[in-house]
Amino acid sequence: MTHHDVSNEELRNAAIEVLRRNDLGTMTTAAPDLYPHMWSWDAAFVAIGLARVSVPRAITELRTLLDAQWSTGMIPHIVFSEDEKRYFPGFDRWGTATAKALPEGVKSSGICQPPVHVIALQHILDRGRENGGSDQAAAEEFLRESFDGWLAWHRWLATVRDPEGVGLVEIHHGWESGFDNSPRWDGPYAAIHPGELEPFTRRDVLHVADASERPDDAEYAKYLWLVQQMASVGFDDQAVQEIVDFRVRDVFFSGIMAASTEVLANLAAELGRPEEAELRGLAERFRRGVASTVDPETGLARDYDVLAGEWISTETVSGFAPLVAGGDAALLSRQRELLQGKDWMAFPGMRFALPPSTSPASAAFRPRTYWRGPVWPFLNLLLGWASDRDGQADLVKTLRSESLQQLADLTFAEYYEPFTAEPLGSLAQAWTAAAALEWLGNP
Ligand code: SER
Repeated sequence: MTHHDVSNEELRNAAIEVLRRNDLGTMTTAAPDLYPHMWSWDAAFVAIGLARVSVPRAITELRTLLDAQWSTGMIPHIVFSEDEKRYFPGFDRWGTATAKALPEGVKSSGICQPPVHVIALQHILDRGRENGGSDQAAAEEFLRESFDGWLAWHRWLATVRDPEGVGLVEIHHGWESGFDNSPRWDGPYAAIHPGELEPFTRRDVLHVADASERPDDAEYAKYLWLVQQMASVGFDDQAVQEIVDFRVRDVFFSGIMAASTEVLANLAAELGRPEEAELRGLAERFRRGVASTVDPETGLARDYDVLAGEWISTETVSGFAPLVAGGDAALLSRQRELLQGKDWMAFPGMRFALPPSTSPASAAFRPRTYWRGPVWPFLNLLLGWASDRDGQADLVKTLRSESLQQLADLTFAEYYEPFTAEPLGSLAQAWTAAAALEWLGNP
């Protein structure tokens, strides 16, 4: 099946239609059925896509998310819409209603996701300035209005989640990574033996063609166990760290932290804010932290299991965290060679030259299962953004043209089978549509 007949205009219109169908007014649901709420890092990519269509609507997306920021500075990974029935675990099951730091009137989960938001804010500013007039005024006003919120978010991550200052963010749930069931987390999850779990019925598997595209039941029980552990201490940061069974330094999260904090430092400079130097220092700390994890043998970055006291070596796309973080030229150039090499973008027989979530050369590779192998379009957009920042025009060109061909099937799937290009998971996924809009650029 080829899609030569789909014009850029048709792709653009179809992507806009997906965002419109997911739009509840002040939030865009991550997907119509599987994810009827706002997810934190989805919302950031959605804002990047929306900014190509309407700068004010993109601002609204980030504002809704920031309105759910906890008093600690944490931005929660799910902001629940009123539609409680279709998603599990919903607000009640999370048990966050009694958490001290939850703002009045907000329904959210009690964990976070990677801080892509300031990168999205920069995109909104760029679009606003291209358009000029009221779009520019609104974007610049939103920057002033929201700066302290983003600053509190980055400071919370840098202190509460990296108390020793190693330049790596500690996560307490695979969901915080966004890479839920990646082979990265098999080791840490193998050590978890859930205690008595409140009974539950999954709903996620009802919304995919085949349950094997999702995490399995044993994995899900552990996901719920961690939520229950955190709820048992009221989602208090200190107490959670003391009792939770999952403590991992997430290298990809940390790479995003480095990149995004550098952008926030640029915005601080623009506003003449005194925090610029602090933010530059933080960005450097996380760049170094990410670089320090690279396995000299494989050239890939690694996570660190705090409870087991060991490195986690996997052949997953998170190994390219330094490419997102930026930094040392020699390291980045070796990583770009690897990324474009035979175990990744040039793996024989793949439909498009796009990196799968797990290398097909790895024994852990599963081509149709969520984070164990499929290609995730939003991730390619992030790699493209970082490559553009680092002046890698050829790599950007390849990622863009391959992505546009992939997305021309117009399903806007959550993830794709690398060899057959079969759309998997949820269709009409908002951040996939947003990625298409951003790759297309301005009409
Ligand atoms: N990604 C999780 C899910 O699949 C939640 O964050 O439901």
